[in-house]
Amino acid sequence: MAPPLDLAHALQVACRAASAAAEAALRHFHPGIKVEFKGEKSPVTVADREAEQAILSIIRAEFPQHGLLCEESGCHGAGAESRWIIDPIDGTRGFIRGGLFWGPLVALEHEGDIVVGAMTIPTLGESYWAARGMGCYRNGEKLQVSACSEWSQATLSMGELDRLLVQPWDQGVLRLVRTAQSTRCYGDLGGVAMVLAGRADAWIEAGVQAWDLAPHKILVEEAGGRFTDFTGLPTVASGNAVATNGVLHAHVLEEL
Ligand code: IPD
Repeated sequence: MAPPLDLAHALQVACRAASAAAEAALRHFHPGIKVEFKGEKSPVTVADREAEQAILSIIRAEFPQHGLLCEESGCHGAGAESRWIIDPIDGTRGFIRGGLFWGPLVALEHEGDIVVGAMTIPTLGESYWAARGMGCYRNGEKLQVSACSEWSQATLSMGELDRLLVQPWDQGVLRLVRTAQSTRCYGDLGGVAMVLAGRADAWIEAGVQAWDLAPHKILVEEAGGRFTDFTGLPTVASGNAVATNGVLHAHVLEEL
């Protein structure tokens, strides 16, 4: 039988892994990096691969019995009761173009629930982490979502528009955009970070994978907010996500 999960230790490992990935990626953060394509629209670089290796070597040394789901190297140890979900660089396209909003995402799923999450935005010097029941932090400062309760006063943070403005939710997305106080597309992990810090009140994203969303669920929940898919299920597996301050969640789901 596997030993009980030590959440504080898992959180410390997640933070260490995210920070090692950030360092590996920064070594390649310069113009002219060679870009390959995994599919028509999905670029990958040596930075993605080295950042993933940096994460894997830390996690494997600490938790050799855990499963892994990784953006670049796939799935290992399927069926384990604990599984790490890893995106070595969320926002690879921004990274390639010298943008600000990119960074590693590391999450631990235990018995089907995301219980630990860490993400880093190296260009801003910001590291976020959370574990079930332990709160959400940015560089050691405890975070709390906003208290905004009126959609007409809300700031909506959005992901990739060409995936959000498709049926069946395009009309709902447009209604949310037209009735919010403001709408901003910060991009990739930067979009959800705005909600964690109370700088935006809701974030929506679609057309993504579990590794693009995994740590966000626990980060948002521990900052006092709510995270679901577009139908209201608390999962990172549907390919779409709504993260809000909690108060506005029902309204966003209703419109979608
Ligand atoms: C991408 C980001 C982006 C989303 C893309 C993803 P990646 O992740 O999450 O916000 O719109 O669909 O592929 O590939 O840079 O890790």
